[in-house]
Amino acid sequence: MEASFLAVSTIWLLMIIAATTATYDAEINNRRNLLANGLGSKPPMGWNSWNHFSCMIDEKMIRETADALVSTGLAKLGYEYVNIDDCWAEISRDEKGYLVPKKSTFPSGMKALADYVHRKGLKLGIYSDAGYFTCSKQMPGSLGHEEQDAKTFASWGIDYLKYDNCNNGGSKPLVRYPVMTQALMNAGRPIFFSLCEWGDMHPATWGYKIGNSWRTTNDISDNWDSMVSRADQNEVYAEYARPGGWNDPDMLEIGNGGMTKDEYIVHFSLWAISKAPLLIGCDVRNTTKDIMDIIANKEAIAINQDKLGIQAKKVRMEGDWEVWAGPLSKYRVAVVILNRGAWRTAITAHWDDVGIPVGSTVVARDVWEHKTLKTRFVGNLTATIDPHACKLYVLKPVS
Ligand code: GAL
Repeated sequence: MEASFLAVSTIWLLMIIAATTATYDAEINNRRNLLANGLGSKPPMGWNSWNHFSCMIDEKMIRETADALVSTGLAKLGYEYVNIDDCWAEISRDEKGYLVPKKSTFPSGMKALADYVHRKGLKLGIYSDAGYFTCSKQMPGSLGHEEQDAKTFASWGIDYLKYDNCNNGGSKPLVRYPVMTQALMNAGRPIFFSLCEWGDMHPATWGYKIGNSWRTTNDISDNWDSMVSRADQNEVYAEYARPGGWNDPDMLEIGNGGMTKDEYIVHFSLWAISKAPLLIGCDVRNTTKDIMDIIANKEAIAINQDKLGIQAKKVRMEGDWEVWAGPLSKYRVAVVILNRGAWRTAITAHWDDVGIPVGSTVVARDVWEHKTLKTRFVGNLTATIDPHACKLYVLKPVS
C-alpha cells in the first residue's frame, strides 16, 4: 500500500516537473520576435560611463567625452555610442510620472545633450532598470512606466538603452524585459536594446527575440581574473550570438589602470574575437599612447566587426594554454593563442582545431605587430607567449 502510494506520488511529482519545464520552454519558444529594430548587425561600439566614473557623471563630462571620441579618431574607427549609465536622473519622477534628468548634473536636459552628441556624428545611450529603482538606488527604474519612459527616451533622441535588473520585486526577467521591448517598438525611434540581467536566467537562449545584446556575466572589475572569467562565461554561449543579437561579457576596462599592457591586449583580443560589444570604459579625454594603441587597433576592430558575425570558441585548452578561434569572411580565421599561466611558453594552434583544412598552407597576419609573417605555415602555427599575454592572428589559407 505504502509502496504504491510512493510510486504514484513520484509519478505525479515527475509530471508536475515536466509540465513546468514544458511551460517554460513554450514561454521562450512561442514568444514572437518582439524586437525588430534592424539594429546591431555588428557588435555595438562606443563608450560607457560606469567602469571609470560610476555615479560621478555630468553633462559637461559627457560632452567632453563626445569631443574626445572625435578628436582622438576613435569615432572614425566606429566608436559611435556615448552611453550614460546609472545615476543620471532625480530620485523622484515629476508629478506626471516622467523621469527628470538630475538638475545639479544634467541642467540642460537630455534632448540638448543628444542634439550635441548627434551634431558630432555620434549617438547617445541611456540607462534604466527593469525594476522600481536602479542598482545605485539613486534614481527610479522603469518597471510599470515602460511605455512612458520609452516614449520619453525617443523624444529626447536616445539611440541605445541599457536595461538593468535591480530592485525588481522578484518577478522573472522574461516577464519584465519584453514589456520594455514592446514599449521601445511603440516609441517610434530605433533604439538599440541592451539587456543587463547579468546572465542569471541564461539570456543567450532567449535574448535574441527581445534585445540586441544581453549580458552573460556579472560585473567585470579591472583585474586579470575578473576579465578572463568574464570571457570564459561568455564563451559558453558562443552558438547564440549572431548579427542582431550579441553576447555581452561586460564593458571594457582597458585604460583604467588595473592590468598590464599585455593583459589589456588579451582583454581586447578576447572581446574582439568573441564579437562582444566594444564599449570603452576609461576616461577617453586622458588616454595614453599605449591605451590608444590597443583600443584603436583597426585590425582587431575589423575582426570584431566582421560581417559573418560568428563568435569564436575555445578550440583547445591544456592547463594554462588556450587557443580560441572563429571564422571570418573571405575564408579567413581569427585565432587567439593565450598564455594564462605564469611562465613564458610555446603554444601551438593546429589547423584541425581552428577549422582550416589540415593540408592547407596558411599566411598569418599578426594583428598586434601589424605584420604579415614571412613564414608560410603548414598544419599548425606555434608562438612563444609571455605570461598573461596572447597573440592574435588572422590566418588565410593560400593553398
Ligand atoms: C550593474 C550593471 C553595471 C552598472 C551598474 C549601475 O547592475 O551590471 O554595468 O550598470 O549596475 O548601477
